[in-house]
Amino acid sequence: MENLNENELSPLSSLDVWEDDVLKRYPETGPAKKKEEFRNYDSPEIDGVREFYRLNHKYQTYDNVLAKKANFLKFDKMEMPWWKAMEFLNTLVDDSDPDISLDQLQHLLQTAEAIRADGYPDWFILTGFIHDLGKVLCLFGEPQWNVVGDTFPVGCAFSDKIVYPEFFAANPDIHDERFNTKYGVYSHHCGLDNVHMSWGHDEYLYHLTKDYLPEPALYMIRYHSFYSQHREQAYNHLLNAHDREMFEWVDKFNPYDLYSKSPKAPVVSELKPYYEDLIAKYLPATVKL
Ligand SMILES: [Fe+2]
Ligand SMILES: [Fe+2]
Repeated sequence: MENLNENELSPLSSLDVWEDDVLKRYPETGPAKKKEEFRNYDSPEIDGVREFYRLNHKYQTYDNVLAKKANFLKFDKMEMPWWKAMEFLNTLVDDSDPDISLDQLQHLLQTAEAIRADGYPDWFILTGFIHDLGKVLCLFGEPQWNVVGDTFPVGCAFSDKIVYPEFFAANPDIHDERFNTKYGVYSHHCGLDNVHMSWGHDEYLYHLTKDYLPEPALYMIRYHSFYSQHREQAYNHLLNAHDREMFEWVDKFNPYDLYSKSPKAPVVSELKPYYEDLIAKYLPATVKL
């Protein structure tokens, strides 16, 4: 897997293409169009999304997750102040259409400002601001499908409620008896804390913040791309009562992530002092990536 070519590393022209596709799947109002309707026309972006999920579903195995945790949860790559890390994330530039799309920092500020405008507590606002920081994984050379995309449990059967479920046919775990049953290595209502999720920016940022933010914030960070659960309840058999309670916060957070995008770019310099204060209130002086 280490010998991936450029197309396998970056099937999407930018990470935003995945999020735009999620937005099409779960539009803000009205019933979602059937998935097929979105796949029925020729478009390089749709092809990129398909290829992205093909790779994601093939390579997100139980062993992949354990290997990524062993590597990235050492946090031995870089150390810098949190705001600097946000700027570092922003060096992930969208090379497809820089005129139309917002950069990472602008998406994060729009998410956070929308939460702030609705009067939520400051830790919720901070969560909105940092929720995608884990995408720095891309800057460490990780392929896009190990950074973004819908997340799902590994170590048990893949739900057919996950987008493009047919691509799991190429995942070797489906032939492994330890992993290919409904519960796999888990048990009834064992709780998500005992479940390995597919690797990506959500899980990584959870580990970067778990000692500092209130629990609802940690759930929002850790499960914000777990669409097969928060939209389709595909894994109720693994959640415990506490997870179900906490998922109300994940549900609260999700619309801000998906629907706060607006073409009006926030002015970073005006907002920076407020967010620097929030960071200082909750997070240590530096983050070890
Ligand atoms: Fe995200
Ligand atoms: Fe996001």
